Amino acid sequence: MSASDKQARVDELLQALSLDEKLSLCAGQSLWKTKAVERLGIPQFRLTDGPRGVGFHSSGKRCTAFPSGIAQAASWDVELMARFGAALGRECRAAGGRTILGPAINITRTPLNGRTFEYLSEDPYLNSRLVVPIVKAAQEQGVAACVKHFAANNQETNRVRVSAEVSERALQEIYLPAFKAAVEEGDAWSIMAAYNSVNGVPACENADLLKTRLRKEWGFKGFVVTDWFAARGTTSTAACVKGGLSLDMPGKGSRYRFKTLKASFERGEFSESEVDENLRGLLYAMVATGHLDPAPLRGQRNTKAHQLLAREMAEAGITLLKNAGGLLPLDQRRVRKIAAVGPKLKKRNCLPLWGGSAGVWPPYEVTPWQGLRQENRGRFEWVPEPAEADAVLVFVGLSHRPGQDSEVKDRKQLELAAEQEQLIRETVAVNPNTIVVLINGSPVAMPWVNDVPAILECWYPGMEGGAAIARTLFGDNNPSGKLPVTFPRSLRDCSAHRTPKTFPGTRQTVVYEEELMVGYRHFDKRDIEPLFPFGHGLSYTTFAYSEFAASAERLSPTDTLTLSLTVTNTGAVSGAEVVQLYVADHDPGDDRPPQSLKGFAKVQLEPGESRPLTLQLPMADLNVFCPDTNAWRAKPGAYSVRVGSSSRDIRLAADFELSGPA
Ligand code: BGC
Repeated sequence: MSASDKQARVDELLQALSLDEKLSLCAGQSLWKTKAVERLGIPQFRLTDGPRGVGFHSSGKRCTAFPSGIAQAASWDVELMARFGAALGRECRAAGGRTILGPAINITRTPLNGRTFEYLSEDPYLNSRLVVPIVKAAQEQGVAACVKHFAANNQETNRVRVSAEVSERALQEIYLPAFKAAVEEGDAWSIMAAYNSVNGVPACENADLLKTRLRKEWGFKGFVVTDWFAARGTTSTAACVKGGLSLDMPGKGSRYRFKTLKASFERGEFSESEVDENLRGLLYAMVATGHLDPAPLRGQRNTKAHQLLAREMAEAGITLLKNAGGLLPLDQRRVRKIAAVGPKLKKRNCLPLWGGSAGVWPPYEVTPWQGLRQENRGRFEWVPEPAEADAVLVFVGLSHRPGQDSEVKDRKQLELAAEQEQLIRETVAVNPNTIVVLINGSPVAMPWVNDVPAILECWYPGMEGGAAIARTLFGDNNPSGKLPVTFPRSLRDCSAHRTPKTFPGTRQTVVYEEELMVGYRHFDKRDIEPLFPFGHGLSYTTFAYSEFAASAERLSPTDTLTLSLTVTNTGAVSGAEVVQLYVADHDPGDDRPPQSLKGFAKVQLEPGESRPLTLQLPMADLNVFCPDTNAWRAKPGAYSVRVGSSSRDIRLAADFELSGPA
């Protein structure tokens, strides 16, 4: 059905619905469902969490637990995200859902945000490129993707009352682009308004966000739903209606409860046509997902194919941070006996509710220990004592507990727990071949980094995680993940942590004083050496970049620069490289970052194989937001295009000149 046919169907429904029926559709009936309008054959519409699989708490069904958001992003794999989106859509449908409450795409402003693990990255370009395929593919399965949390929801501390004080420029350039891409390119049928306020106005009643930007400027056709119970933080029922809020969830006792809404209407605080405008998007999503069709809801969950996809995603996101002396992969010629220790060795991570909307109850979860034994196939011998082993695996990290990687509370510290640090130090003291295997969803400080030869970041890898980790340690998978967030050495180095005003803020406000200097933009600007830079990730093989050519040296704002290069796998095993393209302004001034990500491609190469690669850089992607005129514009001048293996490992560069507008 075309978009105009869907709108025509929505018009018919709006004609047919009585005022009371319309008002009844604006709030949930229960935690996960809207109300039905039986007279018109509109059944209850179910929404389920979340961004890494369908939540048990919202569906009552066991479903496939995929890797969490940051692990998804670490794959830098657009094609994989499309397959994930499709699987997520099928799982949601099989669980009776018509809306999946994800992807979650808030920018990682501080590594302490409790939900960093659920989100994608610190970079608006990377988030944009990853969110679009997820949204499109999920929706092709007849499920509305609910992109969240709109907007500037970058911490859990005081999350329901804090106002993010953020400049128009930082909104435009950092915090909004991925939402915009999800709507404009992905045609997302739903958006979740955040708990927090933005510049003093609660997100759920923020007409500037929900009406002006979302609907008017980006052409959003779907519905805006509150984050759960978020309407409680709004100023009034009428403010929500006028602000552009479609659906209040779960709705009980809240702003859009039928009686409350009706009373406000009767006081003349808003009109029926204002209700129609908000409801239109919900009806649109019902039509678009086939919710009003008599055909039965079909989908698939817990299939072998989804479980294999979960493993493939885990493997694609695992990031090799350090590998001195090529200790990894474990090589039978050098290593016979292995000891595996640490608090994360036998832990499961998918279910706990503190994982919030990312808590999924899969039919099974392969822990690292199970994975190691399952994938070993007689290659290595397990010994209990690190001192007796040829190599030791130390499994440490974080958990979905309040104060770690969890909803509601931010992390307390960047370091791992003191006992874990001590375990690393004690182990390496008795066995120098110590490999630290990290299971966590946000950056950690590593005061022990120079003491250990190898570090493997596995994130929260989902139900097949243990198998993916073991296969990576044994060399059956060559890691190709790249950091989607900077790993700082200490909190002092982070731009959000300059004063309490900038993080965590007061109960009322948190001030985004760092402006555009978020993540690597800040580390580059201040020339701070991170622990591991944005885009970093090693491989068991090596890649050479060569034969670089740029199509032009002088370009106008409407031109596209075409870059060609050759990538060669110069090592002995097959592997994948993420080629990254950054643009550096030669004269960025004080308030602009030295370089920004503007392109990337993941290439799989056999040993010795070379592949020509073409990257397109439309000059329009270099436009910047100009606070004086409140508009995007080309900034004429000299630039470099920099191509490399991380934001700090640039292999090829070329200069070009951008002219002013004609
Ligand atoms: C979270 C959302 C989630 C909702 C429903 C809220 O606490 O912020 O991300 O979708 O609950 O579980």
